[in-house]
Amino acid sequence: MRINSIVIIYAIIWLFSIILFLNKKDILKKFFFLTTKQISKFPLKGKYALAIPFLITLLHEMIFIITGLNLLRIKDITEIFYDLSMFATGEGGADENYSEGYFEGLSEQQIKQMGPRDYENRKFDKILELLGAKQGSKILDLGCGTSTFGAYCKTKGIEVIGLTVSSEQVKHAKSKGLVAYRKDYKEHIPEFENSFDHILILGSSEHITTGSGLVISSYKKKMDKLSEILTLCYSYLKTDGTIFYSGIHMNPKHYKTAENFILLRAYGGLFQLDHPDYDIVKSFENTEFKGNRMFSRDSTRDYYLATVHDENHFGQATTFASSGMLKLLAVSAIYPFAFYQYIYYTLGLWMWMWDGNLHLGADPKYTFEEDKEKRPCTLYWHVYRK
Ligand SMILES: C[S@@+](CC[C@H](N)C(=O)[O-])C[C@H]1O[C@@H](n2cnc3c(N)ncnc32)[C@H](O)[C@@H]1O
Repeated sequence: MRINSIVIIYAIIWLFSIILFLNKKDILKKFFFLTTKQISKFPLKGKYALAIPFLITLLHEMIFIITGLNLLRIKDITEIFYDLSMFATGEGGADENYSEGYFEGLSEQQIKQMGPRDYENRKFDKILELLGAKQGSKILDLGCGTSTFGAYCKTKGIEVIGLTVSSEQVKHAKSKGLVAYRKDYKEHIPEFENSFDHILILGSSEHITTGSGLVISSYKKKMDKLSEILTLCYSYLKTDGTIFYSGIHMNPKHYKTAENFILLRAYGGLFQLDHPDYDIVKSFENTEFKGNRMFSRDSTRDYYLATVHDENHFGQATTFASSGMLKLLAVSAIYPFAFYQYIYYTLGLWMWMWDGNLHLGADPKYTFEEDKEKRPCTLYWHVYRK
């Protein structure tokens, strides 16, 4: 795991608390520039000083809920989420697939005979077909995860460059001989201009956020931010290049719920809102892609099926309960923010998105709500042409 700003902030807070706990006044004076008077006035000392990191987190979260202001960088929360999820699930957790499969046209019997990699590769074939990619094409994968897409494309003679915020994912991708960089795709990369035949945004736009998921204004800001990113994508594409997008949208009836708050806080992000004024289509239509939509699909059931048919999937509360949870709890002691991730897995919030129910215990019952007006979340696919 890479040392990012949050790791440094928590290390300093812990250092301060431990020194206060040990009552080492000289060190406090030297490193934290305090006077004896200030130290003696400090409200928490002795064993209580160890509660400081948790109280600071609580205070931060209250400020965030009330004002939507995030003092910690979301990108860093996301990086820790993915680094920890790889650490907690182990390599190959969720069979390395962080997004949906593609099941259209398959019978239940056929699905049962397939493994997670099979229906993920089936999805990649569909995406390549929709993009119009062929041998020799060059694709930019924004939010590449462990680069399962890049690995598949390599077998087809297609070049993929992946970007991710997680250093663990970069390591993983490089170990497979793939090209991946630890880079924020919100930032402009001049050397990418007019360089790619196709771009992929597969389940990664969920992390782009500028505020709390509990207030409607955050969703408007998010939509505008995505338009900015899509404008960058437009400039990275060659003439007639295509872009594939897949992303979860939150039903407006559910965005003010505790479930949504924990979900978004756990991985550092914000879904788009499933409303014509705030959704990804609106973001596309605010850019030069306007009017060039080639394909759209509600792919929610494919995400649900990918989870229930893969016993190692990160959305499966059963498998996760035994392996990664203790590790996550241990990490929460030094990085209290990881506790969101612990609750997220314990309550089975991933599956809540598809049926609106919490999924606790060793044998949770997963169901799929067909009616998108009642379902908390919907996953959309879209393809646009430059
Ligand atoms: C749910 S995973 C999807 C991974 C992969 N596309 C897949 O389908 O398996 C989200 C990915 O987006 C990446 N990501 C999130 N925000 C990002 C940003 N601002 N810049 C680059 N990558 C980002 C994460 O690091 C992670 O790899």
